[in-house]
Amino acid sequence: MTTVFIDGIDEHEVNSYKAWLQYSGKSSSDYTRQITPLISNIVVEEDSLILKSAKEELVQAISSMFGISPKVTKKKETDKALILTTALTELPNNSDYTVSNEGFRIETVNNQEIYIAGKTDQGILYGVYHILRLLQMEESIVDLSIYENPVNQVRMVNHWDNIDGSIERGYAGKSIFFKDNQFRKNFTRLKDYARLLASVGINSVSINNVNVHQVESKLITHDYLPDVKRVAAIFRAYGVSTYLSVNYASPIEIGGIDTADPLDNRVKDFWKQAAETIYSYIPDFGGFVVKADSENRPGPFTYDRNHAEGSNMLAEALEPFGGHVVWRCFVYNCKQDWRDRVTDRARAAYDHFMPLDGEFKDNVILQIKNGPMDFQVREPVSPLIGGLKNTNQFIEFQITQEYLGQQKHLAYLIPQWKEVMEFDTYSEGENSTVKKIVSGVLLNQKISGVAAVTNIGDDHNWTGHTLAQANFYGYGRLTWNSDISSEQIADEWIRCTFGNIEQIKSIVSKMLMNSWEVYENYTSPLGVGWMVNPNHHYGPNIDGYEYQAWGTYHFADRDGIGVDRTVETGTGYSGQYFSPCAEVYESLEQCPDELILFFHHVPYTHQLHSGKTVIQHIYDTHFLGVEQALGMVNQWKELEGTMDITRYEEVLDRLKGQYEHSKEWRDIINTYFYRKSGIDDKHKRKIY
Ligand code: GCU
Repeated sequence: MTTVFIDGIDEHEVNSYKAWLQYSGKSSSDYTRQITPLISNIVVEEDSLILKSAKEELVQAISSMFGISPKVTKKKETDKALILTTALTELPNNSDYTVSNEGFRIETVNNQEIYIAGKTDQGILYGVYHILRLLQMEESIVDLSIYENPVNQVRMVNHWDNIDGSIERGYAGKSIFFKDNQFRKNFTRLKDYARLLASVGINSVSINNVNVHQVESKLITHDYLPDVKRVAAIFRAYGVSTYLSVNYASPIEIGGIDTADPLDNRVKDFWKQAAETIYSYIPDFGGFVVKADSENRPGPFTYDRNHAEGSNMLAEALEPFGGHVVWRCFVYNCKQDWRDRVTDRARAAYDHFMPLDGEFKDNVILQIKNGPMDFQVREPVSPLIGGLKNTNQFIEFQITQEYLGQQKHLAYLIPQWKEVMEFDTYSEGENSTVKKIVSGVLLNQKISGVAAVTNIGDDHNWTGHTLAQANFYGYGRLTWNSDISSEQIADEWIRCTFGNIEQIKSIVSKMLMNSWEVYENYTSPLGVGWMVNPNHHYGPNIDGYEYQAWGTYHFADRDGIGVDRTVETGTGYSGQYFSPCAEVYESLEQCPDELILFFHHVPYTHQLHSGKTVIQHIYDTHFLGVEQALGMVNQWKELEGTMDITRYEEVLDRLKGQYEHSKEWRDIINTYFYRKSGIDDKHKRKIY
């Protein structure tokens, strides 16, 4: 009989469940001998909620890794000790460091004491996870001098979980919060989730879908707040604050008022009352996430009010309690006529929000998707980021792989997000990178940060594809410090997840690092996007969205393909960027290959910088992508026997499925463009 570990997870699945917090026993006795004396005595001076979590984590991890039960005391009793403290001033060279509220220092003094010190308990907790990462990777801790502050203030994940237990765009099972219109009663898994979040520095979570349906509208009422309070208490112990997505039409849906007009006093009172009620349950409640006037959701436009008026009203209600309004900029016309060649969805967020720059209250943050469309495999950076100069802003990424193979395909997304973070917007002249904007150092912002749609569910490995855990891990790490490289993040994740094994490190790291490009190779080419099956968005369908109302077109005909978004002859979108980005995108000669079809409509015979024609590029990348997908199956097979069979086989299964499916992509895309263009593949490979 199998032992049930947690929430239906049996013993074979425990390793997948533990994700990167494996804390496996150390195989190197030298390492154990060297480390054990330093960590056998732990001093925790205070008894706070968060320090209790830190202490628990340390004890559990150390005993599991080194087979000892460390002694925990309030005062130092031995020469050698691991000390958790807020007494930063007692550390050597204290004046050289400015530790922020969530930052920490780790110092080894005289090879005797290791201090993990923070201004706050939360900082100490992050320091604890840092040292545990080092121990998992078998790094030396005898001579540590580490100083870290998170670069982003808010580091958030958004759940798109519905209260019936389903997850919009979820590819890893059901919700860990909800089931059958109730909160789930087993909170053990939530605690483990909170540990995973804190271990990578995430400090904020919104727990329900931005599309707030009927029952979820009541999450802000007495009906559900006792449960939200329980969830918030679990997260609080790990320094994570809880947010809710709210329905802008709540005054009508649950308030018995006949309007949701933000300037109507009854509406204002409704929200003030709602805020008071919420904060009576959860005094440190984070705030609201709002999707308004977007994809048929209600919003201020109904009342002829703009989004500053709409969000400021909510902000006023939350202000006395210190709450935030996270207002999404995913606002566009989703009922466009495909015959209309003037309207361009890519322009929409900028056109709606730029005129309002500076009009938002201090506790409103605009949440802007990384690209102007919708989390495609390749998009330019949204020009709204940095376009807005006097408005708080979050960038929004999508960890869940809606358009990137839905966690059936491998796509390590950190290189994509890095590219976005490093993009120079020229908002304040050269070196106005996205990472500087979202970290708040460049512009006039009170609050800033990063949010992302999470990829987790109640699958035993959290993310469906075990290797998709790397995206969750990497999102947190990158958001904590946007300068860490994708390679380093991959390396850390692999070592913590699978152990410090050379062969696994080198193979998995290669697989992860190439995977985004591999996926791009066999799917939609050169930044044009979409070409997926409507609604569920999985698998190839080149014209799936071509004659629909969603504003997502590629305009392929017998002569060429792409969207003319230039100022001179197209929709003018390229003019939303600062110089010189605007000129680069405007120019057919200068526009980077990978975005050429996003900005230009070109003949199939147009020659790319690579020297290939567009059509030959399409054929070549699609043949190559499939070979690469097969290559990943073979690379993984080399790892048989290096890890538990469950993880090995599950990943192998997904990689095989990916390879099969990549052929479907290849053949449909190549055949479509061959038939459209009538141009042969130079290498005469099989096209149907
Ligand atoms: C995408 C996605 C939707 C989601 C929306 C959003 O369009 O397909 O499921 O609701 O983004 O970000 O709000």
